[in-house]
Amino acid sequence: MAKKHILDELQNLRDSDLYPLHMPGHKRNKNAGPMAGYMDIDITEIDDYDNLHDAEGMILDAEKRAAKLYGAEETHFLVNGSTCGVLSAVSAAVSKGGKLITARNCHKSLYNAAYLRELSLSYIMPECTWLLGRISPSSVRETLLQNEDAQALFITSPTYEGISSDIRSIADICHEKGVILIVDSAHGAHFGLDDRLPKSALNEGADIVICSVHKTLASMTQTALIHVQGDFVNRERLRRYLRIYQSSSPSYVLMASIDSCLRDIEERGEEVFSRLLAYRTRIEKETAGCRNIFIPDMNEITDPGKVLICSASANITGQQIYDILRLEYHLQLEMAGDTYGLAIITGYDTDEGIDRLIQAIKDMDLRLAGKGNPGEYKTFNIPRAVFPLYKAWDADCEYVDISAAAGRIAGDFINLYPPGIPLIVPGETFDKDLIAEIGEYINAGMNVQGVEIAHAGDRRLKVIKSES
Ligand SMILES: Cc1ncc(COP(=O)(O)O)c(C=O)c1O
Repeated sequence: MAKKHILDELQNLRDSDLYPLHMPGHKRNKNAGPMAGYMDIDITEIDDYDNLHDAEGMILDAEKRAAKLYGAEETHFLVNGSTCGVLSAVSAAVSKGGKLITARNCHKSLYNAAYLRELSLSYIMPECTWLLGRISPSSVRETLLQNEDAQALFITSPTYEGISSDIRSIADICHEKGVILIVDSAHGAHFGLDDRLPKSALNEGADIVICSVHKTLASMTQTALIHVQGDFVNRERLRRYLRIYQSSSPSYVLMASIDSCLRDIEERGEEVFSRLLAYRTRIEKETAGCRNIFIPDMNEITDPGKVLICSASANITGQQIYDILRLEYHLQLEMAGDTYGLAIITGYDTDEGIDRLIQAIKDMDLRLAGKGNPGEYKTFNIPRAVFPLYKAWDADCEYVDISAAAGRIAGDFINLYPPGIPLIVPGETFDKDLIAEIGEYINAGMNVQGVEIAHAGDRRLKVIKSES
């Protein structure tokens, strides 16, 4: 395998006398403004530096090394995040106007892909526990039977909170029916890279797997990978969509960052993941005596990097946990859930950071009193669809007061974070129960997106105009 690493080549260029009469406009000049110090390896496609959209030199070498590391047949670097991987995967797997089965808890890039490609969507709901996210093989089998014309299934595993599905069984069910399995593993770039970590969706038989190396490995924001294997996917079509959805000026700094991040795993992966696992064990062990806060263990949360700091009592919410850690302990969490705050840890954390987290959890626990249950089971019903998403999102819309919305058709998404399941998708109908539920979530201070709160506190919903 070729040994050229992108960063080495960029540094050689920086140190050479080759003068840049090309983009980018900063010309690698250290007097090009306050950010100039970050720009000395930032170039465009020039001779000998390959081209992401038609890789045959050092970028292809780097992609091949990544494929080998993950055990993929083909891997592409993504500089527009997992977002462009999702758009490309769905566009390649399902023909325009075709049918896609998707878990309802998917990232918005999936809904954007369905909109752009005018797809018809059939949904699978994640299993109903206090933490939503796992997709059961039986629900996949049932939904495939009801949708014989589906061309692909799209699911997220692991989820934001670190919940994994049984990809092996789901892949077998899909492949019996000739259906492509796309797994959004944006949060699982580290999976499969060490025997002590969960297996990757790729190892478990998915056809296309997308992962954000910037989320859980040491790569720069916006970097990701798309892997493909097997005979189900038309790879030429996938490459075409990658060329469509990725910038025509892909950043060499971002590509070097992906390559360097994976090089670090090749060279020091064992050490990096030992540190992650040791941090995880320490956090679980040293907070085991807490009575009001608990951290679900790895039987529930398969990803060791996701530390859910959960309220065991009704007297503190996830948002309060988040706020206390930020304001009083200067610890910035990834997000707040209804009954938990989510901390992401990696092998690149520091002992000092983890010590501070453990101490803060123990302190917070002492300040709380009383016990309760960790969270209630949520159920989500999918509203009746009248129009497909791609038509409804383009329809003429108006805003109506929430009290007048029953029976009207949604013109935009309303999302509840977490768990990130759209409560309603454009083209679906509001009913009284859903409207009451939305009101309750807002009153409880939860993060509901897609409801306009007017200055007088009135709540307005975007609906399709009646005559549309
Ligand atoms: C499940 C999931 N998929 C895809 C994405 C998009 O990833 P990126 O931000 O790398 O474009 C995200 C981002 O948060 C995500 O959570």
